[in-house]
Amino acid sequence: MMSNELKERLNLNTKAVEDLITELIQVKDDTGLLDVTKYSLLSGGKRIRPFIVLEAYRLFSDSENVTVALPFACALEMIHTYSLIHDDLPCMDNDDYRRGRLTSHKVFGEDKALLAGDTLLTYAFEVASNSKDLSANSSLSCIQALAKFAGYSGMAGGQMIDLDSEKNIKSLDQLLKMHSLKTSALIICALQLGYLCSVEAPNQKILSDLEKVGYNIGVAFQIVDDILDKTSNSTVLGKLAGSDEKNGKKTTLSYLSLKDAKDLVISLTNEAISIIKQYCKSDNCVLIDLFNYLIDREK
Ligand code: IPE
Ligand code: IPE
Ligand code: MG
Ligand code: MG
Ligand code: MG
Repeated sequence: MMSNELKERLNLNTKAVEDLITELIQVKDDTGLLDVTKYSLLSGGKRIRPFIVLEAYRLFSDSENVTVALPFACALEMIHTYSLIHDDLPCMDNDDYRRGRLTSHKVFGEDKALLAGDTLLTYAFEVASNSKDLSANSSLSCIQALAKFAGYSGMAGGQMIDLDSEKNIKSLDQLLKMHSLKTSALIICALQLGYLCSVEAPNQKILSDLEKVGYNIGVAFQIVDDILDKTSNSTVLGKLAGSDEKNGKKTTLSYLSLKDAKDLVISLTNEAISIIKQYCKSDNCVLIDLFNYLIDREK
């Protein structure tokens, strides 16, 4: 169950992110490409990654004002949304529904969906590099993090392994490695962006702690995604349930029983909480609330 405080924070952060995204894509564009991205961007995702950016920023800075971190939160959500548009394409998972509506390629055609993804990935870097509220040094660190965690050694690399998972994955260890690239990379990125926006000289121990936290939460997140794909239904998920089986994908449930998979989610989450706890200012830490909520999420 979601606590009231978490619910309020999620609403608050989601509104801030969606307001800035709306503003960013309202610039003049005669090609209509930004309208194609808008369809996917403003269609009610959970906004977990930008939430983590903003809350990690709050955790490490003395300020409650998240203006500094907001462009990076939006940039990350743009990269995540691009990854979903491309993930759904016929040449990848070939899925027709996303975030409760038809996928981008079903509405606009594959060619335009492809370009919408390209646009979101590049616009994310434009937005991040235009940010004026941060020192040049900190901005550069954030931009480097976005590039590293989105690319071959991050999300895109994980998707590469996933393309041919039947052949590429032969053990639970290899599966978790794929999860860590495909999904943890952008979660680690979220935590580190929040931190990098809050300091001039980042501490390596904190960065590596955040990497561990993000690794665990990301792997747990993908395990839950695999479980829901098998056990939930398309209406609740807003995307087609049973997509993994349809595509013959190796998933967590190829290696673990439902019970063991859920136990692994709990132990990964608890370990992440024990690490992030040392940075929390009080027992009331909304990031911890989020991590606990994600264990039992329904979509
Ligand atoms: C879906 O991510 C893709 C995975 C990495 C499992 P989310 O479950 O965060 O999707 P949205 O943003 O809420 O639609
Ligand atoms: C996550 O894997 C994909 C990305 C990194 C974009 P899935 O293919 O399982 O994600 P869903 O279930 O379609 O959201
Ligand atoms: Mg996929
Ligand atoms: Mg998919
Ligand atoms: Mg899935």
